[in-house]
Amino acid sequence: MSKKLNIPWSKPDISENEKQAIHKVVESDWYSQGPLTKKFEDELSNYIDSNVSVVNSGTSAIICALLAHNFKPGDLVLVPDFTFFATLSSPKFLGAKIITADVDQKTLNISPVQVEEIVKNNDIKFVIVVDIAGLPVDIDAFEELASKYNFTLIEDAAQALGSEYKNKKIGSFNHTTTFSFHIAKQITTIEGGCVSSNDEKISERIKQLRDHGRSNSKNYSHDLIGSNFRTTDLQSCIGLEQIKKIDRYLSNRQIISKKYKDELKNVNFQENPNYSVRHSNMMFFTIYPNKGIRDKNFKILQENGIDAKLPWPPLHSQPANPELNNKSHINTEIISDTALMLPIFNKMTEEEADYVIECSNKI
Ligand SMILES: Cc1ncc(COP(=O)(O)O)c(C=O)c1O
Repeated sequence: MSKKLNIPWSKPDISENEKQAIHKVVESDWYSQGPLTKKFEDELSNYIDSNVSVVNSGTSAIICALLAHNFKPGDLVLVPDFTFFATLSSPKFLGAKIITADVDQKTLNISPVQVEEIVKNNDIKFVIVVDIAGLPVDIDAFEELASKYNFTLIEDAAQALGSEYKNKKIGSFNHTTTFSFHIAKQITTIEGGCVSSNDEKISERIKQLRDHGRSNSKNYSHDLIGSNFRTTDLQSCIGLEQIKKIDRYLSNRQIISKKYKDELKNVNFQENPNYSVRHSNMMFFTIYPNKGIRDKNFKILQENGIDAKLPWPPLHSQPANPELNNKSHINTEIISDTALMLPIFNKMTEEEADYVIECSNKI
Protein backbone atom coordinates (compact mmCIF):
# COMPACT_ATOMS: atom_id res chain seq x y z
CA MET A 1 0.00 0.00 0.00
CA SER A 2 1.38 3.46 -0.91
CA LYS A 3 1.75 6.08 1.81
CA LYS A 4 -1.38 7.99 2.82
CA LEU A 5 -2.11 11.05 0.68
CA ASN A 6 -4.66 13.82 1.08
CA ILE A 7 -6.57 14.23 -2.16
CA PRO A 8 -9.08 17.07 -2.43
CA TRP A 9 -12.25 16.64 -4.48
CA SER A 10 -11.26 19.65 -6.56
CA LYS A 11 -8.42 22.16 -6.56
CA PRO A 12 -8.01 25.35 -8.60
CA ASP A 13 -4.77 26.09 -10.43
CA ILE A 14 -4.01 29.65 -9.34
CA SER A 15 -0.42 30.16 -10.49
CA GLU A 16 2.08 33.03 -10.56
CA ASN A 17 0.40 34.43 -13.72
CA GLU A 18 -2.97 34.85 -11.98
CA LYS A 19 -1.23 36.45 -8.97
CA GLN A 20 0.63 38.92 -11.20
CA ALA A 21 -2.58 39.74 -13.07
CA ILE A 22 -4.36 40.46 -9.76
CA HIS A 23 -1.44 42.66 -8.70
CA LYS A 24 -1.65 44.64 -11.96
CA VAL A 25 -5.38 45.29 -11.45
CA VAL A 26 -4.73 46.51 -7.91
CA GLU A 27 -2.01 48.85 -9.23
CA SER A 28 -4.26 50.08 -12.06
CA ASP A 29 -6.82 51.61 -9.69
CA TRP A 30 -9.75 50.07 -11.65
CA TYR A 31 -11.14 47.10 -9.72
CA SER A 32 -14.82 46.87 -10.63
CA GLN A 33 -16.36 45.67 -13.92
CA GLY A 34 -14.46 47.39 -16.72
CA PRO A 35 -12.05 46.80 -19.62
CA LEU A 36 -10.75 43.42 -18.41
CA THR A 37 -14.27 42.06 -18.12
CA LYS A 38 -14.89 43.19 -21.71
CA LYS A 39 -11.65 41.45 -22.76
CA PHE A 40 -12.66 38.29 -20.88
CA GLU A 41 -16.02 38.37 -22.68
CA ASP A 42 -14.23 38.68 -26.03
CA GLU A 43 -11.97 35.72 -25.24
CA LEU A 44 -14.92 33.60 -24.11
CA SER A 45 -16.95 34.59 -27.20
CA ASN A 46 -14.03 33.43 -29.31
CA TYR A 47 -13.62 30.18 -27.40
CA ILE A 48 -17.30 29.24 -27.32
CA ASP A 49 -18.08 30.79 -30.73
CA SER A 50 -21.07 32.82 -29.57
CA ASN A 51 -21.85 36.14 -27.82
CA VAL A 52 -20.89 35.97 -24.17
CA SER A 53 -22.01 38.15 -21.24
CA VAL A 54 -20.11 37.66 -17.98
CA VAL A 55 -22.00 37.77 -14.65
CA ASN A 56 -21.08 37.16 -11.01
CA SER A 57 -22.09 33.46 -10.72
CA GLY A 58 -23.55 30.51 -12.58
CA THR A 59 -26.72 31.03 -10.56
CA SER A 60 -26.99 34.66 -11.73
CA ALA A 61 -26.40 33.39 -15.26
CA ILE A 62 -29.54 31.19 -15.06
CA ILE A 63 -31.58 34.03 -13.53
CA CYS A 64 -30.45 36.46 -16.26
CA ALA A 65 -31.14 33.90 -19.01
CA LEU A 66 -34.71 33.41 -17.76
CA LEU A 67 -35.33 37.16 -17.45
CA ALA A 68 -33.84 37.84 -20.88
CA HIS A 69 -36.40 35.41 -22.33
CA ASN A 70 -39.32 37.24 -20.66
CA PHE A 71 -39.85 34.90 -17.74
CA LYS A 72 -43.04 35.75 -15.77
CA PRO A 73 -43.82 34.69 -12.17
CA GLY A 74 -46.05 31.61 -12.26
CA ASP A 75 -44.40 30.23 -15.42
CA LEU A 76 -44.02 26.45 -15.41
CA VAL A 77 -40.35 25.48 -15.57
CA LEU A 78 -39.16 21.92 -16.10
CA VAL A 79 -35.81 20.90 -14.57
CA PRO A 80 -34.04 17.56 -14.10
CA ASP A 81 -34.48 15.93 -10.70
CA PHE A 82 -30.75 15.13 -10.60
CA THR A 83 -28.68 18.32 -10.63
CA PHE A 84 -27.14 20.89 -8.30
CA PHE A 85 -29.82 22.86 -6.43
CA ALA A 86 -29.28 26.15 -8.33
CA THR A 87 -30.87 24.74 -11.51
CA LEU A 88 -34.15 24.62 -9.61
CA SER A 89 -33.72 27.44 -7.11
CA SER A 90 -32.97 30.09 -9.76
CA PRO A 91 -36.38 29.87 -11.51
CA LYS A 92 -38.12 29.23 -8.19
CA PHE A 93 -36.52 32.34 -6.68
CA LEU A 94 -38.11 34.31 -9.54
CA GLY A 95 -41.55 32.82 -8.81
CA ALA A 96 -41.64 29.82 -11.15
CA LYS A 97 -43.75 26.74 -10.61
CA ILE A 98 -41.35 23.82 -10.88
CA ILE A 99 -41.88 20.42 -12.47
CA THR A 100 -39.05 17.88 -12.20
CA ALA A 101 -38.22 15.17 -14.74
CA ASP A 102 -36.38 11.96 -13.99
CA VAL A 103 -33.00 11.45 -15.66
CA ASP A 104 -31.52 8.62 -17.68
CA GLN A 105 -29.87 6.03 -15.44
CA LYS A 106 -26.91 5.51 -17.79
CA THR A 107 -25.98 9.08 -18.83
CA LEU A 108 -27.29 10.74 -15.61
CA ASN A 109 -28.70 13.43 -17.95
CA ILE A 110 -32.28 14.48 -18.59
CA SER A 111 -33.57 12.64 -21.65
CA PRO A 112 -35.74 13.97 -24.51
CA VAL A 113 -38.18 11.06 -24.13
CA GLN A 114 -38.88 11.85 -20.49
CA VAL A 115 -39.21 15.57 -21.26
CA GLU A 116 -41.64 14.99 -24.14
CA GLU A 117 -43.91 12.97 -21.83
CA ILE A 118 -44.20 16.04 -19.60
CA VAL A 119 -44.28 18.90 -22.13
CA LYS A 120 -47.04 17.30 -24.18
CA ASN A 121 -49.37 17.35 -21.16
CA ASN A 122 -48.37 20.64 -19.46
CA ASP A 123 -48.04 24.27 -20.50
CA ILE A 124 -44.29 24.37 -19.89
CA LYS A 125 -42.69 27.75 -20.65
CA PHE A 126 -39.05 26.83 -20.00
CA VAL A 127 -37.06 23.60 -19.97
CA ILE A 128 -33.66 23.84 -18.30
CA VAL A 129 -31.42 20.95 -19.34
CA VAL A 130 -28.14 20.21 -17.52
CA ASP A 131 -24.93 18.64 -18.87
CA ILE A 132 -24.14 16.55 -15.81
CA ALA A 133 -20.41 16.44 -15.01
CA GLY A 134 -19.81 17.97 -18.47
CA LEU A 135 -21.56 15.31 -20.57
CA PRO A 136 -23.63 17.12 -23.24
CA VAL A 137 -27.36 16.41 -23.35
CA ASP A 138 -28.86 15.44 -26.72
CA ILE A 139 -29.08 19.00 -28.01
CA ASP A 140 -30.63 18.35 -31.45
CA ALA A 141 -33.48 16.40 -29.86
CA PHE A 142 -34.12 19.12 -27.27
CA GLU A 143 -34.06 21.92 -29.87
CA GLU A 144 -36.60 19.94 -31.91
CA LEU A 145 -38.85 19.50 -28.86
CA ALA A 146 -38.58 23.22 -28.08
CA SER A 147 -39.96 24.17 -31.49
CA LYS A 148 -42.58 21.39 -31.51
CA TYR A 149 -43.98 22.25 -28.06
CA ASN A 150 -43.14 25.95 -28.07
CA PHE A 151 -41.05 26.26 -24.93
CA THR A 152 -37.80 28.15 -24.36
CA LEU A 153 -34.82 25.86 -23.99
CA ILE A 154 -32.07 26.92 -21.60
CA GLU A 155 -28.97 24.83 -21.13
CA ASP A 156 -27.37 24.95 -17.69
CA ALA A 157 -23.82 24.11 -18.74
CA ALA A 158 -22.30 25.17 -15.41
CA GLN A 159 -20.21 21.97 -15.58
CA ALA A 160 -19.62 21.85 -19.33
CA LEU A 161 -17.35 24.67 -20.50
CA GLY A 162 -15.24 23.14 -23.29
CA SER A 163 -17.51 20.12 -23.86
CA GLU A 164 -18.55 19.44 -27.45
CA TYR A 165 -21.72 18.05 -28.99
CA LYS A 166 -21.27 16.72 -32.56
CA ASN A 167 -18.02 18.68 -32.94
CA LYS A 168 -19.48 22.01 -31.79
CA LYS A 169 -18.77 23.68 -28.47
CA ILE A 170 -21.51 23.71 -25.85
CA GLY A 171 -22.83 27.27 -25.81
CA SER A 172 -22.65 27.80 -29.58
CA PHE A 173 -26.12 26.43 -30.42
CA ASN A 174 -29.44 28.15 -31.09
CA HIS A 175 -30.53 28.42 -27.47
CA THR A 176 -29.24 30.34 -24.47
CA THR A 177 -26.60 28.56 -22.38
CA THR A 178 -25.21 29.35 -18.93
CA PHE A 179 -21.82 28.55 -17.36
CA SER A 180 -20.20 28.81 -13.93
CA PHE A 181 -16.66 29.85 -12.98
CA HIS A 182 -17.01 28.77 -9.35
CA ILE A 183 -13.73 27.67 -7.72
CA ALA A 184 -14.35 23.94 -8.40
CA LYS A 185 -14.96 24.36 -12.15
CA GLN A 186 -12.63 23.81 -15.14
CA ILE A 187 -11.78 27.51 -15.17
CA THR A 188 -12.44 29.80 -12.27
CA THR A 189 -12.82 33.46 -11.40
CA ILE A 190 -13.33 32.31 -7.74
CA GLU A 191 -17.05 33.09 -8.12
CA GLY A 192 -18.46 33.92 -11.55
CA GLY A 193 -20.38 32.78 -14.57
CA CYS A 194 -21.55 33.76 -18.04
CA VAL A 195 -24.37 33.42 -20.53
CA SER A 196 -23.84 32.66 -24.20
CA SER A 197 -26.35 33.34 -26.94
CA ASN A 198 -26.02 33.65 -30.68
CA ASP A 199 -28.83 36.22 -30.55
CA GLU A 200 -27.09 39.57 -29.99
CA LYS A 201 -30.30 41.09 -28.61
CA ILE A 202 -30.40 38.48 -25.81
CA SER A 203 -26.75 39.12 -25.09
CA GLU A 204 -27.31 42.88 -24.83
CA ARG A 205 -30.35 42.33 -22.63
CA ILE A 206 -28.28 40.25 -20.23
CA LYS A 207 -25.65 43.03 -20.05
CA GLN A 208 -28.48 45.40 -19.18
CA LEU A 209 -30.12 43.04 -16.65
CA ARG A 210 -26.83 42.55 -14.78
CA ASP A 211 -26.56 46.33 -14.34
CA HIS A 212 -29.97 46.97 -12.68
CA GLY A 213 -31.67 47.09 -16.08
CA ARG A 214 -29.94 50.36 -16.97
CA SER A 215 -30.26 51.16 -20.64
CA ASN A 216 -26.90 52.88 -20.64
CA SER A 217 -24.28 52.68 -17.93
CA LYS A 218 -23.58 56.40 -18.26
CA ASN A 219 -27.00 57.53 -17.09
CA TYR A 220 -29.63 56.47 -14.56
CA SER A 221 -32.38 55.49 -16.97
CA HIS A 222 -33.70 51.98 -16.28
CA ASP A 223 -36.09 50.37 -18.73
CA LEU A 224 -35.87 46.81 -17.33
CA ILE A 225 -36.02 45.40 -13.82
CA GLY A 226 -32.64 43.78 -13.35
CA SER A 227 -30.33 43.61 -10.38
CA ASN A 228 -26.64 43.68 -9.56
CA PHE A 229 -25.24 40.60 -11.30
CA ARG A 230 -21.97 42.32 -12.24
CA THR A 231 -18.54 40.81 -11.77
CA THR A 232 -15.28 42.75 -11.19
CA ASP A 233 -12.10 43.24 -13.20
CA LEU A 234 -10.27 41.75 -10.22
CA GLN A 235 -12.01 38.47 -11.08
CA SER A 236 -11.98 38.81 -14.87
CA CYS A 237 -8.17 39.13 -14.83
CA ILE A 238 -8.06 35.64 -13.27
CA GLY A 239 -10.46 34.34 -15.92
CA LEU A 240 -8.24 35.76 -18.67
CA GLU A 241 -5.27 33.73 -17.38
CA GLN A 242 -7.41 30.62 -16.86
CA ILE A 243 -8.97 30.56 -20.33
CA LYS A 244 -5.45 30.43 -21.85
CA LYS A 245 -4.98 27.07 -20.10
CA ILE A 246 -8.37 25.45 -20.65
CA ASP A 247 -7.25 22.97 -23.32
CA ARG A 248 -4.41 21.76 -21.10
CA TYR A 249 -6.84 21.45 -18.20
CA LEU A 250 -9.36 19.46 -20.21
CA SER A 251 -6.65 17.14 -21.58
CA ASN A 252 -5.44 16.36 -18.08
CA ARG A 253 -9.00 15.71 -16.88
CA GLN A 254 -9.40 13.35 -19.86
CA ILE A 255 -6.25 11.43 -18.85
CA ILE A 256 -7.47 11.04 -15.25
CA SER A 257 -10.96 10.03 -16.36
CA LYS A 258 -9.56 7.39 -18.76
CA LYS A 259 -7.29 6.02 -16.04
CA TYR A 260 -10.23 5.73 -13.63
CA LYS A 261 -12.32 3.96 -16.29
CA ASP A 262 -9.50 1.56 -17.22
CA GLU A 263 -8.42 0.66 -13.71
CA LEU A 264 -11.34 0.94 -11.28
CA LYS A 265 -12.91 -2.46 -10.62
CA ASN A 266 -16.54 -3.47 -10.04
CA VAL A 267 -18.08 -0.05 -10.72
CA ASN A 268 -20.03 1.51 -13.56
CA PHE A 269 -19.47 4.90 -15.15
CA GLN A 270 -21.54 7.63 -16.78
CA GLU A 271 -22.22 6.39 -20.32
CA ASN A 272 -20.87 8.65 -23.09
CA PRO A 273 -23.15 8.64 -26.21
CA ASN A 274 -21.50 9.03 -29.65
CA TYR A 275 -22.75 12.61 -30.06
CA SER A 276 -20.64 13.67 -27.07
CA VAL A 277 -17.25 14.20 -28.70
CA ARG A 278 -15.73 16.05 -25.78
CA HIS A 279 -16.61 15.66 -22.11
CA SER A 280 -15.18 18.36 -19.83
CA ASN A 281 -14.89 15.86 -16.94
CA MET A 282 -15.69 18.61 -14.50
CA MET A 283 -16.75 15.77 -12.22
CA PHE A 284 -16.26 12.01 -12.29
CA PHE A 285 -19.07 9.67 -11.21
CA THR A 286 -18.65 6.05 -10.14
CA ILE A 287 -21.78 3.96 -9.73
CA TYR A 288 -21.85 0.95 -7.40
CA PRO A 289 -24.09 -2.15 -7.44
CA ASN A 290 -25.98 -0.98 -4.33
CA LYS A 291 -26.07 1.61 -1.54
CA GLY A 292 -24.30 -0.65 0.98
CA ILE A 293 -21.25 -1.10 -1.25
CA ARG A 294 -21.26 2.61 -2.16
CA ASP A 295 -21.36 3.62 1.51
CA LYS A 296 -18.52 1.20 2.40
CA ASN A 297 -16.42 2.59 -0.42
CA PHE A 298 -17.13 6.17 0.61
CA LYS A 299 -15.97 5.37 4.15
CA ILE A 300 -12.75 3.71 2.94
CA LEU A 301 -11.94 6.66 0.70
CA GLN A 302 -12.54 9.14 3.50
CA GLU A 303 -10.44 7.14 5.98
CA ASN A 304 -7.63 7.22 3.45
CA GLY A 305 -7.68 11.01 3.02
CA ILE A 306 -9.65 11.05 -0.24
CA ASP A 307 -12.34 13.71 -0.44
CA ALA A 308 -14.89 11.80 -2.55
CA LYS A 309 -18.37 13.31 -2.40
CA LEU A 310 -21.87 11.87 -2.21
CA PRO A 311 -24.06 13.04 -5.10
CA TRP A 312 -26.95 15.49 -4.76
CA PRO A 313 -30.15 14.11 -3.24
CA PRO A 314 -33.11 14.16 -5.68
CA LEU A 315 -34.46 17.71 -5.95
CA HIS A 316 -37.99 16.44 -5.31
CA SER A 317 -36.89 15.19 -1.87
CA GLN A 318 -35.31 18.45 -0.66
CA PRO A 319 -36.90 20.05 2.43
CA ALA A 320 -37.07 23.38 0.56
CA ASN A 321 -39.39 21.80 -2.02
CA PRO A 322 -42.33 20.45 0.06
CA GLU A 323 -44.65 20.73 -2.96
CA LEU A 324 -42.48 18.13 -4.77
CA ASN A 325 -41.91 15.73 -1.86
CA ASN A 326 -44.67 13.30 -2.94
CA LYS A 327 -43.03 12.75 -6.37
CA SER A 328 -40.99 9.68 -7.24
CA HIS A 329 -38.20 9.59 -9.82
CA ILE A 330 -36.75 6.16 -9.56
CA ASN A 331 -33.57 6.65 -11.63
CA THR A 332 -32.57 9.77 -9.72
CA GLU A 333 -33.22 7.99 -6.43
CA ILE A 334 -31.01 5.06 -7.49
CA ILE A 335 -28.20 7.33 -8.72
CA SER A 336 -28.33 9.38 -5.57
CA ASP A 337 -28.10 6.22 -3.43
CA THR A 338 -25.41 4.37 -5.39
CA ALA A 339 -23.04 6.96 -6.92
CA LEU A 340 -19.95 8.77 -5.70
CA MET A 341 -18.08 11.72 -7.17
CA LEU A 342 -14.34 10.99 -7.15
CA PRO A 343 -11.63 13.68 -7.03
CA ILE A 344 -10.70 15.16 -10.41
CA PHE A 345 -9.01 18.51 -11.03
CA ASN A 346 -6.92 20.44 -13.52
CA LYS A 347 -3.50 19.48 -12.20
CA MET A 348 -4.31 16.14 -10.65
CA THR A 349 -1.37 13.80 -11.18
CA GLU A 350 -1.45 10.19 -12.31
CA GLU A 351 0.11 9.23 -8.94
CA GLU A 352 -2.82 10.88 -7.15
CA ALA A 353 -5.26 9.00 -9.40
CA ASP A 354 -3.32 5.74 -8.75
CA TYR A 355 -3.81 6.26 -5.02
CA VAL A 356 -7.59 6.83 -5.43
CA ILE A 357 -7.79 3.68 -7.59
CA GLU A 358 -5.78 1.60 -5.12
CA CYS A 359 -8.04 2.64 -2.21
CA SER A 360 -11.23 2.14 -4.28
CA ASN A 361 -10.25 -1.29 -5.46
CA LYS A 362 -9.82 -2.52 -1.88
CA ILE A 363 -13.49 -3.38 -1.68
C1 LIG B 1 -25.49 22.42 -12.69
C2 LIG B 1 -25.16 23.67 -11.95
N1 LIG B 1 -25.96 24.74 -12.11
C3 LIG B 1 -25.72 25.90 -11.49
C4 LIG B 1 -24.63 26.06 -10.66
C5 LIG B 1 -24.43 27.33 -9.94
O1 LIG B 1 -23.23 27.97 -10.25
P1 LIG B 1 -22.58 28.98 -9.20
O2 LIG B 1 -22.09 28.20 -8.04
O3 LIG B 1 -21.47 29.62 -9.98
O4 LIG B 1 -23.64 29.96 -8.82
C6 LIG B 1 -23.76 24.98 -10.47
C7 LIG B 1 -22.59 25.12 -9.58
O5 LIG B 1 -21.99 24.20 -9.13
C8 LIG B 1 -24.03 23.76 -11.11
O6 LIG B 1 -23.24 22.69 -10.97
